Amino acid sequence: MSTAPIRVAVVTGANRGLGREVARALAEHGIHVVVTARDPRSAEAAAEELGGPGLSVSPHQLDVTDPASVARAFATIGHEHGRLDILVNNAAVAIDRHRTAAVPDIERVSATLDANITGAWRCCAAAIPEMQRHHYGRIINVTSHMATTSRLAQGSPAYRVSKAGLNALTQILADELRDTGILVNAITPGLVDTRLAYGKTDRPPADAATNFVRLATLPDDGPTGRLYHNDHELDW
Ligand SMILES: NC(=O)c1ccc[n+]([C@@H]2O[C@H](COP(=O)([O-])OP(=O)(O)OC[C@H]3O[C@@H](n4cnc5c(N)ncnc54)[C@H](OP(=O)(O)O)[C@@H]3O)[C@@H](O)[C@H]2O)c1
Repeated sequence: MSTAPIRVAVVTGANRGLGREVARALAEHGIHVVVTARDPRSAEAAAEELGGPGLSVSPHQLDVTDPASVARAFATIGHEHGRLDILVNNAAVAIDRHRTAAVPDIERVSATLDANITGAWRCCAAAIPEMQRHHYGRIINVTSHMATTSRLAQGSPAYRVSKAGLNALTQILADELRDTGILVNAITPGLVDTRLAYGKTDRPPADAATNFVRLATLPDDGPTGRLYHNDHELDW
């Protein structure tokens, strides 16, 4: 009798905020979660906090802006677990809230694009070969309502551009990977109470995290190249 493999997930920026709650929700669903953070001690502390009875988690350092760190993390995970099934590109920065596109702080623009779009892209490129080995993958890119076409407007220009780029990457990868067993979707959590939300809401991140489980465990004929908020689809 064949048994289904224990799925292995990587969550970027899982040491706090939404990422930590997504890691918890996936682990509670019986998935082994590699809890990653740019500071290795933060990864270890989060893995220790998340690793309750019956939950399978392990820490790994992963800075999405550092090519060597990304290469090292995905190579180690592939070697240790023999598979990688789920990638949640959650890590992001929002550091140009009070800027305008007309008078940008280009260093902040570069840092934002590097973390939020190039970083996620780098992780996809590192994860996809591992997923292809088993003809199975679920990639979830964490985006924002602020980058949907109907809401593109002033405020946090670099953040919006980075997430709009991530939306484009989601659709391009989904098309490239059609019929490979790898599904690529984006999710916008809506406002949740993390450092990134600057106190604008008291909705706990755990509320949004449960919706990630559905996308992480989509059936093989599930949707790809789509954008979701909670359990419903949104227009890009
Ligand atoms: N909160 C909201 O209302 C909201 C709304 C829409 C979308 N989102 C999205 O939700 C996701 C999670 O954000 P959050 O609200 O949980 O924010 P958060 O609490 O600020 O967490 C951001 C996470 O990203 C990590 N990170 C930043 N740069 C990194 C890098 N170079 N490499 C690896 N990790 C890095 C941070 O690690 P450090 O601890 O090392 O800084 C932290 O773990 C983001 O993609 C964000 O855009 C959030």
